[in-house]
Amino acid sequence: MTLDRTASPLAAAARAHETDFGPEVFRARRERFLEGIGAGTAVIAAAPELLLSRDTEVPYRQNSDFFYLTGFLEPEAVAVLTPHDPEHRFTLFVRPRDPEKETWSGRRAGVEGAREAYGADAAHPIAELDERLKDLVEPGDALWYALGSWEEMDRRMLALVAGFRRSRPRQGKGPVDVRDPAGVLDRLRMVKEPREIARIRAAAELSAQAHLAAMRAVRPGMGEWELQALIEHTFRAAGPECGPAYGTIVGSGAGSTVLHYVTNDRRIGDDEIVLVDAGAEIGYYCGDITRVLPASGRFTPPQRALYGVVHRALETGISLVAPGETVLGVHEAVRRVLVEGMVELGLLAGDVDGLIESEAFKRFFMHQTSHWLGLDVHDAGPYTEPGGGSVVLRPGMVLTVEPGIYVAADAEEVPDEYRGLGIRLEDNVLVTEAGGEILTRGVPVDVDEVERVVAARGGG
Ligand code: GLY
Ligand code: MN
Ligand code: MN
Repeated sequence: MTLDRTASPLAAAARAHETDFGPEVFRARRERFLEGIGAGTAVIAAAPELLLSRDTEVPYRQNSDFFYLTGFLEPEAVAVLTPHDPEHRFTLFVRPRDPEKETWSGRRAGVEGAREAYGADAAHPIAELDERLKDLVEPGDALWYALGSWEEMDRRMLALVAGFRRSRPRQGKGPVDVRDPAGVLDRLRMVKEPREIARIRAAAELSAQAHLAAMRAVRPGMGEWELQALIEHTFRAAGPECGPAYGTIVGSGAGSTVLHYVTNDRRIGDDEIVLVDAGAEIGYYCGDITRVLPASGRFTPPQRALYGVVHRALETGISLVAPGETVLGVHEAVRRVLVEGMVELGLLAGDVDGLIESEAFKRFFMHQTSHWLGLDVHDAGPYTEPGGGSVVLRPGMVLTVEPGIYVAADAEEVPDEYRGLGIRLEDNVLVTEAGGEILTRGVPVDVDEVERVVAARGGG
C-alpha cells in the first residue's frame, strides 16, 4: 500500500519534521526546564546502544528525554545544563567526526555540528566527559540526574558525587542533593505543544490506516504474523521517520486474552476474534490503537455481547475527557460500565458497588483505563497531582482510553461461551478547551461497521 504523501496528514507531519522542530524549539524547552531546576545542574544522557548478541546492534532509538531537550539523535552523547553559568547554559558532549568510523556507521554531527546545528553553547568530544564534568557540576546546588536508568552512566555519576563528598568538608563546594529530572521534565512533557500534537495526530492517523488495512485483510487461516507484517509495512512505507511505536500485538483466539501477546505465531481459526493492538511512530511521536476483528466477518453472539460492553465503556470514558475531569474519574466511569456488563453477561454475580469495592472485577479487567501518549507510547507524566489526588486533565494532554474484558480460556465459574475471549478497544484522545478530540477514528470501532469492513474484503 502506497500512501500519497502530498495529500495525507503524513505529508504535514513530514514537513513538520523538517521545519517545525528547529533548534529554537529545543532551546525554548531547555529554558523551561532550566527554570524548573533552579540553581542545579542537569546531566541528561543519550540512550546507550544495545547489542542483540556479539556485534549485532538493536536499531537505535534516542532516549525521549534527551530528544525532547536537544533534538540530537546520535548515541554516545551527554547534555549538561547549567543555569548558573550565563554563557554556557547548554554543553553537549558528542562523538567527534571520524571519517573511518563514519564509513561504517554513518555521518556524525561532531563537535562543530553540536554547536551549529543543535545550538550548544559549548561542545566537546564525549571522551572528555569525566574530566570536564566536575567543573560543570560543582557550582550547582543539586545534581539533576536520572539515577537507575543506565548502569554505566550511574557509575560515573556516583563517582562524581563521591568525589564531591570527599572534598566538600574542606572546599565547601559541590552539590549535596541528587534529584530526578523527571520531577520537572515529566510535567513539561505531559502538556503537548501544537507541533507535538501535529505529529501525534499524524501517528494516530497512520495507526488508523494500518488497522483499516488489517480489517480489510483478516481471514481465517491467515497467520497472525501476516497481519503484523501488513500493519508494519503500512507504518514503514509511510516515510523514513515512520515505524512501529511498540511490538505489534495480533492475538487470535485465546491469544486475545493475553495483554501483551507479541508472539504472533498462530494461524487464525474460523469464527475467532483477532485482537490487534498496534501503533505507529512518526518522527518520535506515537499512536496506540486496539481493535478486535471477527475473522469470518461476523461476530458470534457471545463475542458481540462482550464487544458491546467494552464498546459502551470506551464511549463512556471518551465522553468524559475534558479539562477539569481526572484520569481516575475516567477510569471509574469505565470500570462501572464494565462491571455492570460483567454482571449482565453472568461473568460476575452480585451488586455492582460490592464487586467494585472487593475488586472482584480484576479477574477480567486488570489494567488501568488510560496512559499518556507522546514521545513514548506509555508517555512521561505522573497520574497523581503533587498534593495527592488524580491528575486533572488540561488542554494539550493526550491520553488513551482502553477498556477491556479478558476471560481466560481456563477461567472457572463463567459461562462457557465467554472462555478464551479477550476484547480491548483503544482510542487516543486529545484534551481540548472544549472537551476531548478523538484522534483515531480513521478506523471504525462500531461493531456493525467493523463487520461491514471485514466482510467486504472479497476473496476467499
Ligand atoms: N500498546 C500498549 C498499550 O496499549 O498500552
Ligand atoms: Mn495503550
Ligand atoms: Mn495499545
